[in-house]
Amino acid sequence: MFNYFGSKYLLAKTYQPPAFDVIVEPFAGSAQYAMYWMRERSDITCIMYDTDPKVIASWNRILAATPDEIMNWSVKIGDPVNDYIDLANYGGGNRVVNARIVSDFRQAKPGWARTRAAVGDRVTIIEGDYTQALDIEATWFIDPPYTDAGHNYAHSMVDYQQLAEWARNRKGQTIVTEAGSADWLPFSHHKTQRTNLGTTRSRELVWYSHPEPSLLDLIG
Ligand SMILES: C[S@@+](CC[C@H](N)C(=O)[O-])C[C@H]1O[C@@H](n2cnc3c(N)ncnc32)[C@H](O)[C@@H]1O
Repeated sequence: MFNYFGSKYLLAKTYQPPAFDVIVEPFAGSAQYAMYWMRERSDITCIMYDTDPKVIASWNRILAATPDEIMNWSVKIGDPVNDYIDLANYGGGNRVVNARIVSDFRQAKPGWARTRAAVGDRVTIIEGDYTQALDIEATWFIDPPYTDAGHNYAHSMVDYQQLAEWARNRKGQTIVTEAGSADWLPFSHHKTQRTNLGTTRSRELVWYSHPEPSLLDLIG
């Protein structure tokens, strides 16, 4: 929903589409996969979890507002930065609003308002660890802090072997994303692309519980 470090904004539509009408994002951030599919399909609801209180505050603020109220939001240089909506700037360490944040904020508002209008009351956000997620049959989009970039998230403590086991045991359809040379699941190469800061390239990996049939499967 908001601009966020490591967000899947550019990639959301490149993964398997949801096979279920509930999407769970146990590592929410700005939950771009769920938001993309909820804008596309009005029958989809989502449940998400995050351990970072700022992420939760950002979601609560956006979900409590109408699209018109969002369009009337503003920030001024020197204001304190309260959450990722004020920050509008990929999660850096900023404490006060600067000129760049004012400009990003203004440009981002129409997108937030459109997404807010599209999702209605179909979003549930819960502050908590991913292991608290109810084990329901759903499309699970699991996008944890990457093993080689996890230091960017303030509230991150993940045992990746435990997460691998947990991901394999979800009911329904599971999509797990990673990058670089991570090998805690048998990931496949997904795409190599510029990061959302545009400065470096990232080798994106994915693991699907139900991979698409390969050409060989179709022939054989
Ligand atoms: C890579 S980001 C998710 C980005 C998201 N897919 C998007 O499109 O913006 C990972 C998120 O997981 C959260 N997180 C870290 N450890 C967690 C845990 N143990 N349980 C739940 N969330 C956690 C971080 O606060 C961060 O928001």
